[in-house]
Amino acid sequence: KKVVLAYSGGLDTSVILKWLQVEYDCEVVTFTADLGQGEELEPARRKAERAGVKEIYIEDLREEFVSDFVFPMFRANAVYEGLYLLGTSIARPLIAKRLVEIADKTGADAIAHGATGKGNDQVRFELNAYALNPDIRVIAPWRDWDLNSREKLIDFAEKHQIEIPKDKRGEAPFSVDANLLHTSSEGKVLEDPAEPAPSYVFQRTVDPESAPDEPEIIEIGFDRGDAISINGKPLSPASLLTKLNEYGHKHGVGRLDLVENRFVGMKSRGIYETPGGTILLAAHRGIEQITLDRGAMHLKDELMPRYAELIYNGFWYSPEREMLQAAIDKSQEHVAGTVKVKLYKGSANVVGRASEKTIYSLAHVTFEEDAVYDQKDAEGFIKLNALRLKLLARRNKNAE
Ligand code: ARG
Ligand code: SIN
Repeated sequence: KKVVLAYSGGLDTSVILKWLQVEYDCEVVTFTADLGQGEELEPARRKAERAGVKEIYIEDLREEFVSDFVFPMFRANAVYEGLYLLGTSIARPLIAKRLVEIADKTGADAIAHGATGKGNDQVRFELNAYALNPDIRVIAPWRDWDLNSREKLIDFAEKHQIEIPKDKRGEAPFSVDANLLHTSSEGKVLEDPAEPAPSYVFQRTVDPESAPDEPEIIEIGFDRGDAISINGKPLSPASLLTKLNEYGHKHGVGRLDLVENRFVGMKSRGIYETPGGTILLAAHRGIEQITLDRGAMHLKDELMPRYAELIYNGFWYSPEREMLQAAIDKSQEHVAGTVKVKLYKGSANVVGRASEKTIYSLAHVTFEEDAVYDQKDAEGFIKLNALRLKLLARRNKNAE
């Protein structure tokens, strides 16, 4: 029996690793990915080696994460329930994909993850994995074991000589998930939605109130709906998002306090920081403003909540997500040009946009006299559009 574990090297997954070896009596392969969470990966290797793991996979997936998952999602301007930029949701399909691929390569018949039985992440890992390999088995220790209290977990760790970081001895003050796109914090001190989050929860943005008093304007270049440069300098997807994160951090951009509906049914309160993503979303809408046709734009906006919900619920590898993606990608053919975004004390506002593909027509819109638009045409346009409204109004008046 062999299982591939999504392993961070932290206390929880270290306990899971040992638990799989001892209680499940199986050989464990570890998989640790750099998704831009800002943690060293070498300690994970060292700890896995010490636990006797023979096959250790450590991979830098930052470029793939941004180019194949984050960017396609941003072409749709996807946000869940009006506000959440889906930073955790969009990372799960990539992790699931690698787990399944590594299982295939190492001859393992199962994968394991450290998500709890109450959340969205278990659903995402598992739906995405089953979509890629219908025969894979999934082990979710949090749903199976009896180490449900901190005390029991620590006891188990001590019994098996698992390294326990000093700050992990007590109860963790809240749960964190981080990657290049966002940091999310949930639980414990954040559980009362009436209470503002303590300032120590925020980890990758300065408080907007202490951000620089001078605004800063950056220019983001786009091609086919994807960001390709900052201030004229071409950048790879992951380095571009990294750079935007630095700007967002400095100006306190992208903080969010949200109560959301989990797929499994309950509401949960989360604190999100999505510095670069918040700038990118504003800029992308900015370039679409001058390059997208109204019909295309409005249809996209109608499809977006559906598309966002599919990602949130774990249906990245579903035919309906792929159908929507094809439509969204088609809409982006001419979404190219540059956008100026002004960053100032927590805000990221578009202040300029330019494109060789623009369909903005000064000749048509100008308040000065023009030769291309006959204002008299508007009279008939309004008359025919008003026809049915007038018929209704007349009936309502007669009924009075
Ligand atoms: N609620 C977010 C989502 O479902 C984040 C979940 C993971 N976050 C965490 N702090 N454990 O996408
Ligand atoms: C978890 O339960 O593992 C994190 C929260 C979530 O998945 O929604």
